[in-house]
Amino acid sequence: MRLPSTPFPVKKILMVCLGNICRSPLAEGILRSKALQHGLDVEVDSAGTISWHAGHPPDERSVAAGKKSGIDIGALRGRKITTADFDRFDLILVMDAQNYSDVAALARDAGDLAKVHLLLEFAGHGRNDVPDPYYGTMQDFHDLYRLLDEACNLLITRLREHKL
Ligand code: 4NP
Repeated sequence: MRLPSTPFPVKKILMVCLGNICRSPLAEGILRSKALQHGLDVEVDSAGTISWHAGHPPDERSVAAGKKSGIDIGALRGRKITTADFDRFDLILVMDAQNYSDVAALARDAGDLAKVHLLLEFAGHGRNDVPDPYYGTMQDFHDLYRLLDEACNLLITRLREHKL
């Protein structure tokens, strides 16, 4: 499928945050589940801009927030984004402006950079950044779930509308 603001077909989507334990694994799980529900042939993965949590499972609060809605992300493991991800993925959706700067700094050329977008902006959500809930409360994780769920619904609509 080809989206209006991407000059390339979108089959593989990478969700990116800072640690790859709170926001992006939950976004990965939610989008994968919705793509499956809608029969969309989309591959989804996630990564962080730092390596601190490489090999670690997602934050237990993200796991709990997903589980409440039937999304199981417990088996995912953290990893750091690499330049090879620009070759592996068609679209790299970041959670906030800092993630955008960090991922943009890895881009080798304009083609790489064109793959990087803020998730909420790309989805057409009214907000810009997905707030980092790491130092927050369980309620922040429930709010995170709702925000990512809204964004993924919008994203799925775009993917379905522009299916080739
Ligand atoms: P994430 O949240 O980027 O949504 O995975 C964070 C996870 C870990 C840290 C910060 C944010 N940390 O500072 O270790």
